[in-house]
Amino acid sequence: MKQTPHYGIDAPNVIRNLFLIGILCLATSAALFSFVDRSKIIWLILIGWVFIVGISLVLTAILMIFSSKFGKLKERERILDMLSIKGDELILDVGCGKGLYLIGAAKRLTNGKAVGIDIWQSEDLSGNDMENTLQNAKLEGVIDKVSIETADMRKMPFENHTFDVVLSSFAIHNIYDRVEREKALKEIIRVLKPGGKLCIIDFQHIDEYLKFLEEQGIMGIHRFKTKLIFPPATAITGNKR
Ligand SMILES: C[S@@+](CC[C@H](N)C(=O)[O-])C[C@H]1O[C@@H](n2cnc3c(N)ncnc32)[C@H](O)[C@@H]1O
Repeated sequence: MKQTPHYGIDAPNVIRNLFLIGILCLATSAALFSFVDRSKIIWLILIGWVFIVGISLVLTAILMIFSSKFGKLKERERILDMLSIKGDELILDVGCGKGLYLIGAAKRLTNGKAVGIDIWQSEDLSGNDMENTLQNAKLEGVIDKVSIETADMRKMPFENHTFDVVLSSFAIHNIYDRVEREKALKEIIRVLKPGGKLCIIDFQHIDEYLKFLEEQGIMGIHRFKTKLIFPPATAITGNKR
């Protein structure tokens, strides 16, 4: 049977909890509906409220799975189109996970190279493991254009001005402290060549990233909403002076 690449499900524990609590709420509303005195309006309001919470949680979990499996792949192509990759670039994917952008970018390269760094946190992405990323690169036919390292985005093992393009998708928000997130952004700017492009896609802290990038002199900053990603995400692009 032909093997296909799997880019993982974001925040698998959050999705599991949404399903569990959602189903518990739905079961509770069904039990209440069967056993309480339904002529009392207060019970009907309570049952309706528990049902709506339950259905919302389950739908949120389903949307998150749809986003990881389909939405993020579609949006990746749109965003990579916008970056106008020529083919000879050295590209860095920060927090590459199972290689969604790393491999997507590598497919557009001729004699360029795509490098991914990650610390492989399993709570951030299902099956998050360097071997799985390499396997995806093999399955997509780009293993010779990809290299991967274990490294923290706050202290990257690269010289100043190394990369033509630096990308990061749904990764920086996993650092919970603002000062630490700014360290990651500083590193992104440090390893980017003068004139190089950056692209950050995330669903939290967007205004904070924008302000910091402006303060650091990033030019031509463009911000746009993604369409098929849940939770709704924003992409920021810009150029180093
Ligand atoms: C939700 S996943 C997204 C993976 C991939 N970029 C994508 O869009 O499918 C977030 C990734 O960021 C990585 N990550 C979190 N903190 C990191 C850090 N300090 N340095 C490097 N990678 C980190 C996690 O291990 C995980 O692979």
